[in-house]
Amino acid sequence: SVAGRNAIHPTGSAVSPWDRAQAKGHRGGVFWMTGLPGAGKSTLARGAETRLFARGVDVSVLDGDTLRAGLCSDLGFSEADRRENVRRAAAVARILAESGQVVIVALISPTIADRELARQIVGDGFHEIFIDTPQATCEERDPKGLYAAARAGKIEGFTGIDAPYEAPVKPDLRLETANASSDETAARLAAFIGEETRLD
Ligand code: PPS
Repeated sequence: SVAGRNAIHPTGSAVSPWDRAQAKGHRGGVFWMTGLPGAGKSTLARGAETRLFARGVDVSVLDGDTLRAGLCSDLGFSEADRRENVRRAAAVARILAESGQVVIVALISPTIADRELARQIVGDGFHEIFIDTPQATCEERDPKGLYAAARAGKIEGFTGIDAPYEAPVKPDLRLETANASSDETAARLAAFIGEETRLD
């Protein structure tokens, strides 16, 4: 009911972000990775997670495939479902970041509008990271064989083939993966995240 809805008042945390950051030794934040299927989002997210964790950072990864196995298992790949996928991931990321965590999100999140929605939901501490891999390279890698399946007409609405991908115009960080090792690139990502969540 409307009366019921009006009775919902979000309550802030009893612990201030500053106290949390002091306790953890770093600030929280959301690092939103966008890119084509096969661009290397998950690999780089895991690589950065491992490095940051080794340095004592409270870090976690929200990955499209993982979310779609649970929280988002009711969603497909229509425009509306992708938007809902982004909305849920952003809402969870916000909660985790407010608890002081560094959150790395790895979602295709193919449209500028959807990533803008994510930025609005997360608020302060949102960073957009473009995993900039040429489609030809993604298609060559084809780690799950999905480009081949899409080319063969077995998947409809596959990003990059018959569904759009809008590259970010001015991302906070752009990582080109075609001519560097995933180790090097993960190290760059971890360094950027470390810098952006440093206490000072
Ligand atoms: S989105 O667009 O942000 O909601 O997508 P995401 O949650 O990141 O899921 C992407 C992974 O799902 C697989 N997959 C598809 N991707 C794009 N289009 C279609 N139609 C599709 N069907 C399945 C694909 O393996 C994506 O994995 P990544 O890791 O991005 O390669």
